[in-house]
Amino acid sequence: ASVHPFFGVHQAGITTPVQDHLHFASFDMMARTNRDDLIELLQDWTYAAARMSQGLDVSATGAVGGSPEAPPDDTGEALGLAANGLTITFGFGPTLFQTGAGEDRYGIAAQRPAALTPLPAFLGDDLDPLASGGDLVIQACADDPQVAVHAIRNLSRIAFGRARLRWSQLGFGKTSKTTADQATPRNLFGFKDGTANILADDTAALDAHVWVGSGDEPAWMTGGSYLVARKIAMLIETWDRVRLAEQERVTGRDKAIGAPLSGGQENTAPDFAATGPGGAPAIDARSHVRLAHPDLNGGNRILRRGYNYVDGNTGLGRLDAGLFFLSYQRSPDQFVALQKALATDLLAEYIRHIGSGVWAVPPGAAAGSYVGAGLFD
Ligand code: HEM
Repeated sequence: ASVHPFFGVHQAGITTPVQDHLHFASFDMMARTNRDDLIELLQDWTYAAARMSQGLDVSATGAVGGSPEAPPDDTGEALGLAANGLTITFGFGPTLFQTGAGEDRYGIAAQRPAALTPLPAFLGDDLDPLASGGDLVIQACADDPQVAVHAIRNLSRIAFGRARLRWSQLGFGKTSKTTADQATPRNLFGFKDGTANILADDTAALDAHVWVGSGDEPAWMTGGSYLVARKIAMLIETWDRVRLAEQERVTGRDKAIGAPLSGGQENTAPDFAATGPGGAPAIDARSHVRLAHPDLNGGNRILRRGYNYVDGNTGLGRLDAGLFFLSYQRSPDQFVALQKALATDLLAEYIRHIGSGVWAVPPGAAAGSYVGAGLFD
């Protein structure tokens, strides 16, 4: 099982080969906390996250090494489990820099990246405030679900009195890949997802589209990125009654191997000029892949890292399921432009955006420092 170092130039969990499971958690700082509370929380989170990333307990005494008279530091459910590729990625929401009431509680309002504002409302949004926003976010990914849950549980516990859990999401069966040797996974509509993603070895694309550059503002974000989360419900039962050919037309790709409908193999570039029988475009003008493709978006690309989710079922006996969409980009504007371009997407009939958030993901911490330290210099 793999171990990914917590410390480094960039935070782990972005270009890291996508793990199988997700536990995603959004937090709000508690009223009357101050700058020192926030700094100490980030230091405590860094210490515990660095240990857990190595497969260790949250502290040296851990789950069973402390006093029998005290609650253990570590909750213990990951004892005996390896790191399982655990990565823990931290982000700061727009409301951390300035509360809803306009209060600069942590003395960081002047450090807020200009582009870090709540996302605009998009056509068809049906957002639940309890699956949206948050002052702080933690993305925990691992190949064992218990390891990811253990990480969020213990980080929530460490936050006690300073930040409280606002909402969280479990995900499984990654819907993207970040390395060429990972087989492309499938989403809950049964299609290969992640084919045209930005891969970890494509440093030119990462520098252009994912990492905040040294010339970008503010300086403390250099080497960081911006995370967008969208909880997208998929109307599974409706989709399952749709003809195969129509499912493929909506997507713009073939269901078996993921090839573009203009022909070729999974990794063949789509040819939007190609025509099919009768002279109609082989790839529908309103298909998801065409509208999301960089050629139609001024070269705009994002790194997708989402997961499937099933939150049980609805009272109508339908699966409460969908895609927990996660993307990393150099600026939130990239997501905004893409989501606007998808307004007429044929896929829109089969999905509903029900949760949303955007966070500034600072660069990785150097060993001995803590995540987000540059914000407080
Ligand atoms: C591509 C599914 C939402 C952006 C794809 C592909 C599938 C897919 C099957 C083709 C394979 C691939 O290249 O990965 C879905 C589903 C969604 C969804 C089921 C919702 C439930 C979104 C959203 C965005 C987005 C919200 C961004 C705003 C993209 C991009 C591509 C893509 C950029 C690659 C296009 C290309 O370069 O060819 N998606 N997607 N998708 N999707 Fe989505």
